[in-house]
Order: sequence, then C-alpha cells, then structure tokens
Amino acid sequence: MTHVSTSPATFEYSPDGLGLGTACPRISWRLPDGSTDQVAYELEIEDADGMTTTTGRVASPRRSLVPWPGEPLGSRARARVRVRVWTTGAEDPSPWSDPAWAEAALLDPEDWVARPVGGAWPEDETSDRRPARVRREFTIGRPVVAARLYATAHGVYEAEINGARVGDDALSPGWTVYGKRLKYRTYDVTDHLVQGGNAIGAWLGDGWYRGRLGFHGGTRDIYGTDQSWLAQLEIRHDDGSVTTIATDESWLAAASPILESGLYDGEVHDGRLADPDWSRPGGAGGHDDGEPGDWTPVAVRHRDPVTLEPDDEPPVRCTGELAPASVVLRDDGSYLLDFGQNVAGRLAITVTGPSGTRVVLRHAEVIIDGDLATRPLRQARATDEYILRGDRTQRWEPRFTIHGFRYATITGWPGTLAPGSVVARVYHTDMPPAGEFTCSDPLVQRLHDNVRWSVRGNMVGLPTDCPARDERLGWTGDAQVFAPTALFLFDCTALFDSWLADVALEQLPDGTVPWYVPVVPGGPMWTPVRPGAGWGDASALVPVQLYQATGDPELLRRHYGPARAWVDLVARLAGPSRLWDTGFQLGDWLDPAAPPDDPAAGATDQHLIATAYLAWSARHVSLAASVLGHRADAEAYSALAGEAAAAFRGRYLLDDGRLASDGQTAYAIAIAFGLLGDAGLERRAGDRLAQLVHDNGYRIGTGFVGTPLICDALTSTGHVAEAYRLLMQTECPSWLYAVTHGATTVWERWDSLRPDGTLNPDGMTSFNHVAFGSVADWLHRVVAGLAPAEPGYRKIIFRPRPGGGLTSASASHQTPWGQAAIAWRITGELLHVDMTIPPNCTATADLPGHDRMELPAGTHHAEVPYSPELAHNHSSGA
Ligand code: BGC
Repeated sequence: MTHVSTSPATFEYSPDGLGLGTACPRISWRLPDGSTDQVAYELEIEDADGMTTTTGRVASPRRSLVPWPGEPLGSRARARVRVRVWTTGAEDPSPWSDPAWAEAALLDPEDWVARPVGGAWPEDETSDRRPARVRREFTIGRPVVAARLYATAHGVYEAEINGARVGDDALSPGWTVYGKRLKYRTYDVTDHLVQGGNAIGAWLGDGWYRGRLGFHGGTRDIYGTDQSWLAQLEIRHDDGSVTTIATDESWLAAASPILESGLYDGEVHDGRLADPDWSRPGGAGGHDDGEPGDWTPVAVRHRDPVTLEPDDEPPVRCTGELAPASVVLRDDGSYLLDFGQNVAGRLAITVTGPSGTRVVLRHAEVIIDGDLATRPLRQARATDEYILRGDRTQRWEPRFTIHGFRYATITGWPGTLAPGSVVARVYHTDMPPAGEFTCSDPLVQRLHDNVRWSVRGNMVGLPTDCPARDERLGWTGDAQVFAPTALFLFDCTALFDSWLADVALEQLPDGTVPWYVPVVPGGPMWTPVRPGAGWGDASALVPVQLYQATGDPELLRRHYGPARAWVDLVARLAGPSRLWDTGFQLGDWLDPAAPPDDPAAGATDQHLIATAYLAWSARHVSLAASVLGHRADAEAYSALAGEAAAAFRGRYLLDDGRLASDGQTAYAIAIAFGLLGDAGLERRAGDRLAQLVHDNGYRIGTGFVGTPLICDALTSTGHVAEAYRLLMQTECPSWLYAVTHGATTVWERWDSLRPDGTLNPDGMTSFNHVAFGSVADWLHRVVAGLAPAEPGYRKIIFRPRPGGGLTSASASHQTPWGQAAIAWRITGELLHVDMTIPPNCTATADLPGHDRMELPAGTHHAEVPYSPELAHNHSSGA
C-alpha cells in the first residue's frame, strides 16, 4: 500500500476548478514524489446533494485528463472529487487524495440575465475617453452560504464588493474576437458579502474592445464604442433561495478618477478624485474632496449571451515585483530607474506630497545616451501619470495598461525618491512553470533566461510579438515558431488553445489564416488579409505542438477543421504542381541579409519556404487525422505532403545536391522538414549548410523561419559542432551578441542595438520578441538532451549532445505523467548523466558514443567515455 495520497485532482487546464466551461471536465492528478508507478485508480464524485459515485478500481496508469465519470455537471453545479491509486504489488490503494471541487460556470446562454451597462454621457470618439465606474447597492436579508460573481466587460474591468477588490486578475476579460467570443471569469465572492447593506461595482477601461490598437496610429472602436460591465452576482442563501444582482438599468455610473487609460499610451489617474467608499454601501455620496459623486443611471447595451464563454484558464496577474537595480537623480530633477530586467508590466508607486502634484512615469526597453529610447515604441506613449491628493501617503498603480520596459524615468516626484517607493510589477498570464534549463556557460544560461523572460513578456491572454510598442499582436508566425519553447517552459496549453479558437474565428471562408489574431486594421501590407506561408501555417502546426506536449487529442480535434482548411487553401493556390510559387510572402522574416527596411527580402527564396511549409503542414494535418481516426484524410494529406516535397526537390534541388536558393534557411528547412527524401541528400545538404555557416564566420544567417530549425538541421546531419559554433558566437548576428550587449530578453532583430551602440535605424525594432528565442527548444532537446519520444512524454528520449565547451547542462519538464529530467556533466573523459523518468513512462538513452539503452521509470545514472570528437562523430543527433 502506498501510504501517500496523490495530489488533489485538477480539471481540464483550469488552475482551480472554478467556473469550468464544460459539463464533463476531465480529471488529472499527480503521484506523490518517489512513486514507482500507478497500476489502477479510483475516482469518487460527490455531487451537491451528497450523492456519491465512484469508478471502482480502474486498471490504468492514466492520470492526465481522465474522462469525467459522473453525471454531467449542470450550470453552477459543484462536485467534490477525490482520487486514490494502486501501485504494483499493492493490495490496498493509497489514501484518498485531499478533495478538490469541480464547479461549472454558466453553461447555458439562458443562464444570463445580466446586460452590459456603462456611462450614458456623450463622449468624443476621436480621443481617449474618460473611463467610467458602475455600481449598485443591494440588501441581503438571509444568511449566505455561497456567492459567485460571473463578470466580463466591453473593455477591461476591475471589480469591487463592499470596498474590497474581487480577484487579482488583470486586464480581464483579455483579448478575443469579441464579436463572436467574449470570455467571462467566475469569482467566489462569498466572503465579500455581509447581511444587510452591500455594494458592488467595477472600474472600467477601454482595453482591446474600443482602445486604440494597431500601428500607423492605430484604430479605435474595433469591437464597439461602448465601455460596459456585464456582471451577474448569484447569492445562494441557507434556505436554498438565490438572490441575483445583475447589471441592468438599475445600476449607476460615474466618471472614474482615471482621466485617461489606454494599453499603449498608459493611464492618468487623479488621486484627488478618489472616493474610497464608492464600492461600499452609501458610498455614492461623493468624492473625498467633497465634490458630489455624479452617479447617473447607466446606459444598457447589448451582448448576445451565446457569445459568452467561461474563462477557466490562468488569468493575467502580477507574478512578481522588481526593485530598481539603480536610481539616478538627473540634472533636470527627474529620476532614471533601471530595473535590470526587461519585463511586461507597470510601476507601482508609494508617494506623499502636496495635492495636485503630477508624477509622470515613462517607460522604455533601452536607454541611449543616458535617456529613454522611445523611438522603438513608435506611437505607444507608454506614460502613466498620478496626481497626488496630498493628505496622506498614497500607493498607486495603473489598472488598465501594461508596458514593455526595463527603464523608467520619473518626473515631478515630490521630495527625494526613497528606496522601495517604486517597484516594477511583472504582469502576464499566470502560467504554471513547467520546465527548467541550466548549463555551465553563463552567456548561454543568460540567453535561456532571456528566452524565459520573453515568453513571460509575450503571454498576456494570448501569444504576442512584443509588449512595448504600438503592436502587441497575436502574430501567427511568431506563435508557431516559439510554441514548442513556451510549452516546455510553462503550462501554457490553455492559452494557445484559446488563441487557436480565435484563429478559427478569424479564418476566412477560403481558409486564409490572418497574419495576426485577433485581426485589427493594419495598413496595405496587412489589410486585406492575405495567406502567408509560415504565418498561416500556425493553424496546422500549433495544434500538433500542443498535442506533442500534452498527448491530449482533444487539442487536435478542436482545431482540426481550420488546420485542414488552411492546407486545402494552400494546395489550391499551389495547384497541381504542388509549388506555392506565386503571391506575396514574408519569407524568412528578418534574415540578417535583408535590408533593415525590407525584412521580407532575405537570402532564401520566399516561395521555396512557401512550398516547404505546404509539405510540412500537410504532414501535420495527416498526423492529426491519423490520431483522430480520419483514415482517408490521413492518407490524402500524407500524399499531399509527399507530392509537395517531391515538387520542392523538383524545383529547388540541383543535380549537385545544392539548393537553387543557396541560403542557410533553405537547407535548414529542407532538412528539418524532411523534404529531401533520402539520407544521402540530407547529409550533403547538411554539409552545405555547415559550409555556409563556416563561410559566414559561424554567424547566424536566418530569420524567423530558419532560426528555429538551423541547429536541429546541423545536429541531424552530423554537424552539431557547427551548431555550437553558432550558439557560442558573440559577434553580430548571433544569439549571444545581444546577451553580450546587455540583453535581458530576446531582441526582435539580431541587431536591434547595433555594435556601435546605436539603435537599429528601422522603426520596427523591439527588444522583446520571442521568435529568435526558439533556439531554446534545441537547448532543451539537444544541449541538455530531454525530449518527448511520444506525445505527452509517455516515452522519452534522452539524447544529450554536449559541445561548445560546455561542461554541464540540465533540463527538467513537468510532463502529464510527472517530472522528467536529465543532468549531465563532463569530468576529464567521462560523461556523467542522471536521468529521471516519471512513473509508468519509459525512455531511450542515446548517449554520445554509446549504444542506446532502454530505461524504465525511475532515476538512472550513467557514466560513459566522452570526448568531443567521439560525441560529434557518433551517429547523427537525429
Ligand atoms: C511583428 C512580427 C511579425 C512580423 C511579420 C512584425 O511587425 O512584430 O512579430 O512576425 O511583423 O511581418
């Protein structure tokens, strides 16, 4: 008998089981550390009426996304779930796990009575409009046993009940294709309520709904002109009765102390207008400074409840705080603060001073000549202002904006800026960390840390390109190149799954997948939407990347239609030749050979890349079809992939084994996508790629498309040494060039900061793009040597390929089966390797210069003779 119980159950990808969007949430649990295996489990479900059902002993090692065994949950239904397991040889099961509760959200549109409400006063739609607050008072006559608040907004919101904040999520409801899909969160507010008088209210901001979005000045009101809160408070009393307080015409609205607020531009808050009791009963009396609170009846707007969707994913919230690494008082009396880390977030200040003092906070990712470099922000002002109320120490942080920054300047600070009075608060989707990487080289370690920070900086409810400038869009190409890295480092499956639902909503009837999702107007290059290779392919590639990471076929099923429609479109555009050789393409975006002002004009033929992606995506759709049991589709798309690969060879492979487009990315994509059809041709292509890398001084020559592929292509063709030469290179362009020039995140361009210390001249220059950080996936799988050999890591491959002078490296990942890990170190001519395989999983250890070993679950140590020559001449890394 195992004496230790499993972890409490979890449901779907929900962090807390509250407000689940399905009636039959799948159940997962973790075995206690040190467990040998699981041979059976039993689930016990107790519903709200105390009815208990159990599965009985189910002989299965499965413990991830196990089907719901009970009656489907109705809206709001809550069930207690426990699990216990049997291990090999154990007669008795483990003790029951601690209980976990699965609670459904409002699963039926009919459940909604609330309607969007907001300020009814006239507004100037050409400028930033004054945000509103809405409120309502109500009385509770009977004891409360439970209360739930279901809330969302046309805009963004922060809710309060009886003066206390509800939840700690930020920028909710996040950004989705609002016309068709608006997410709402569920909050347990039982403890906020009192018998007698209560009050509820919300701060509102424009957010993505009507705020300025996009570049070239952007566009307002993309989803609507109103700023409204939609909320339904359901209070269950001791007698089973329910009181519902829903947003409707009985609510009041007033202009909030926030004077202006925008995601790009920042927030202006007038502390003198504070009225701390506004969300308390009797609190509509007026501002502290005696000014009457001009609360007026709300305007009631429309929202089709069919478009309301429960958001049971991790919210955006503050995940950490950074104190300034340095504070410099400048001659003009302003302060320059360096937080030592480029982040997505905002500042929180604690300040005391005369009423009306205006403290201005400006943000930027880099400083040039001792001042903030704001050119890269383009038309994002990234400036917050707080007007002091003067009578006491105030703590303030903007609510409805977020900045990408490492540095900030503060002007107008009353007196001396004392240590601790300003902190940077880091905001992003609170994805559970899932993976780690370490290595002996401090520069490579910093590179990996930069990747992790860039992933954090670009996950704000959706995967974005960058957090600082007037963009921050869900670029599809970026998502597909960095998803594997992000999925190794964080459990961000739910975020990508949700975003793919928006990709499907924005997909055009002909199958075109936009450049970025959600879609905003973007100037002639991006509007109207056109199909682009590498970007549109996200619809076919990301679902499989999610499946590889989780082993969850539902992720393939949910996104199968859009993936197939995309590949069908490209097949139509390519025609019987299977060559997609016409039309606009982004190619190998930001190939260092491309002129700064024309990033699409890289060395590698754009249509070579387009045809390569047709084959690659068709292969992915075929894989998805076979997992889902769509046999005919699996064969058809496999055939299409084969035909496109043959067409690729026919058009681009020359008799001497070279490619017609003789660039690093051409070979990397041909090898990594398996387009050359035989090992000999692949070897020769690898040799040519290694030669090109050599001839380029071991500096990188790839953009967004080639960069995630080049190290694997070199590794799989016996050139891991060249891959390490690229990795360890510090000259520009290279990954470590940025690190040696002070980068704390991954730069958009190889030379966002030029060797002479100047900014890249082009307006599109960010210092926090994940795309080039996709090399981290190779660091995990090849440098450390941990990779799934089967979707969901049921079978693992440990294939470390040390090099580059590294003397040690390690990686670990929280798989659906438990922690998998590898750590190696070299001493003299010995390679020591420690490997951890989760219970019920197996692994192959493919150590350099050594025959493969099949390993069962558990921890294993191996010592093998090691020398770089031996390692690199041993079989290919593939
Ligand atoms: C974005 C990139 C994107 C690219 C495509 C840029 O403006 O920042 O992330 O992939 O455009 O052209």
